[in-house]
Amino acid sequence: MAINERIEQLTAAADLNSPAPEQEPARQAWFMARARKLIEKRAAEAGRELTFRVETFGCQMNARDSEKIVGILESVGYREARSEDADFLVYNTCTVRDNADQRVFGRLGRAGHLKKNRPGMKIAVCGCMVQEKSNVEKIRKSYRFVDLVFGTHNLYRFAEYLCNCLETEGMIVEIWDRADRIVEALPVARKYPFKSGINITFGCNNFCSYCIVPYVRGRERSREPIEILRECERLVSDGVVEIMLLGQNVNSYGKDLETPCSFAELLQMVCEIEGLKRIRFMTPHPKDLSDEVIRVVRDNEKIARHIHLPLQSGSDRILKRMNRRYTKEQYISLALKIREQIPDVSITTDIIVGFPGEEDCDIDDTIDVIRRVGYDNAFTFIYSKRAGTPAASMPDQVPDREKNRMFDRVLAAVQETAHARAGLLTGRTMEALAEEVNVKDSSYITCRLSNNMLVHVPGDPSMIGKMLQVRLDECRGFYFFGRVV
Ligand code: SAH
Ligand code: SF4
Ligand code: F3S
Repeated sequence: MAINERIEQLTAAADLNSPAPEQEPARQAWFMARARKLIEKRAAEAGRELTFRVETFGCQMNARDSEKIVGILESVGYREARSEDADFLVYNTCTVRDNADQRVFGRLGRAGHLKKNRPGMKIAVCGCMVQEKSNVEKIRKSYRFVDLVFGTHNLYRFAEYLCNCLETEGMIVEIWDRADRIVEALPVARKYPFKSGINITFGCNNFCSYCIVPYVRGRERSREPIEILRECERLVSDGVVEIMLLGQNVNSYGKDLETPCSFAELLQMVCEIEGLKRIRFMTPHPKDLSDEVIRVVRDNEKIARHIHLPLQSGSDRILKRMNRRYTKEQYISLALKIREQIPDVSITTDIIVGFPGEEDCDIDDTIDVIRRVGYDNAFTFIYSKRAGTPAASMPDQVPDREKNRMFDRVLAAVQETAHARAGLLTGRTMEALAEEVNVKDSSYITCRLSNNMLVHVPGDPSMIGKMLQVRLDECRGFYFFGRVV
C-alpha cells in the first residue's frame, strides 16, 4: 500500500545486529523488523499463520488509532482473525461514560477464558480507559492474564511494546501522562478502502465540566498542514474518495503551530486535492465555529452538507455549569445561520440529560432548541459521572429514575424533528457513496448521502466505493430506500 512506503523502507533497512536507533520512526521500524522475525519463527513452529484481532470502543479517534494498531500487526506478519479467539488480541478502550468501561471489563473476562485454551496468546488493553490509574490497578489485580497495557500518548511505540511482549512473560504497563510528540509515517491499515478518517488535532483544551477526554487525551496538538495534505494525497492515490478530518474541536486547529493555519484555511487546501470527492469533519465546537468555515463549506460542494454541532444542553444555567461557553440564543443563531448559508445542510447534535442540578425546566429549554433548530439527528446520552471531572463533585446529582424520564422526553422531541426533516427529501435525486452490502438483505447496497443519511438501493458489491446518483423513493424515518438512476 502506497501509504506505508516510507516505513517499509526503514524496516527493510533496519540493522538488527545493532541496538535499536533512538530516532523515530526509525526506532519503531527496527522493532517491526525484529517482530517480523519473531512471528515468522513462531508461525513455523506452530505450523500455521498467527492471527490478531483488534476490538474498538468509542469514537472516531479510537477507530483511527485502531487502524494504526492493525497496520503494525499486519505489517509484522499477523493475519486478521474473525473472532477474539486470536493469537494477539487488543482492546482499544473508551471511558467517556461508565457503561463503556463496564463493557470492556465484561469482554476482558471472557478473553481470559479464551487464553486458557490458546497457548502463547497475548492480550493487550490500550486507549482512553487505561489513562486512568484506577482502571490500571483493577487490571493488575483482577485481570492478571493481560500481557500489555499502553496508553493514548505512546501508541506510536506499539511495535516496540509488541516486541517486548513477545519476548517476555508477565504484564507490561506503559502509560504516559502526556504526549511528547506526534510521530508521522507509521503504517496504517484502513477499514474501508474508499474512505478514511485522518487526525488533524489530538487532545482537547476545553474541559467541559462533565468530560474525561481532556484528562485521557491530553492537551491540544495540531499536525502540520503539510503532513495532513500529504496524507490526504497518499490516500487519494490509494483509491480513497472520502476523507473525514478528525479532532475533538476542529475549530481550534492550527493555533498551536509555529506558523499558524486556521481550520478554514486547512479545509480549503484539502478541497483543492484532485481526485478527492467528499470531505467531512468532526467535531466543530459551537463556541468558535467561524464564518470563514461556514463560507468554505458553502462554496465547496466537495464538503459534505452535514455539520455535527454538539448542543449538550439548551439551558443557559446548565450550559454555564458545563463550561460550554455559549448561550442558548448564541447556539440557535449559529445553527440558523448555517441553515441559511448552506442549503440542504443537515445539522446533527449530541445532548446530555441528567447533568447535576438539571430540572424539567432545563429540559424544556433543550426541547425548545431541538424544535427551533430542527435537528436531522441527535445522539442523546444519560449523564455519567466521571471521577476527577468538576461535575462529578457537584452536590446535586440527579437520581437515575429522573434521568431516564428526562431522556425519554428528549428522545421523543428528537425523533419528531428527525422524521420531519428526512421526509423533506423524499423524491429527490442525490449523490451517494456506496459503502457496503446491506447487513439484512444482501441484494441491497447501503449508500451514504452527503448529509450523512443512509439510503439502501438494489445492487451488487461491484458498486462499493463509487459515487452514485440515487433517487430517494421512500423515507423510513432515519433512512431511505431508493434506486440508482
Ligand atoms: N469533542 C466532542 C465530543 C467528545 S465525546 C465534542 O465536544 O462534541 C462525545 C459526546 O459524549 C459528547 O458530545 C457528549 O455529548 C458525550 N459525553 C461526554 N462526556 C459525557 C458524560 N460524562 N456523560 C454522558 N455523556 C457524555
Ligand atoms: Fe469533551 Fe468538551 Fe473537549 Fe468535547 S470539547 S472532548 S465534550 S471537553
Ligand atoms: Fe472515548 Fe476516548 Fe473517544 S474516551 S469518546 S475513545 S477520545
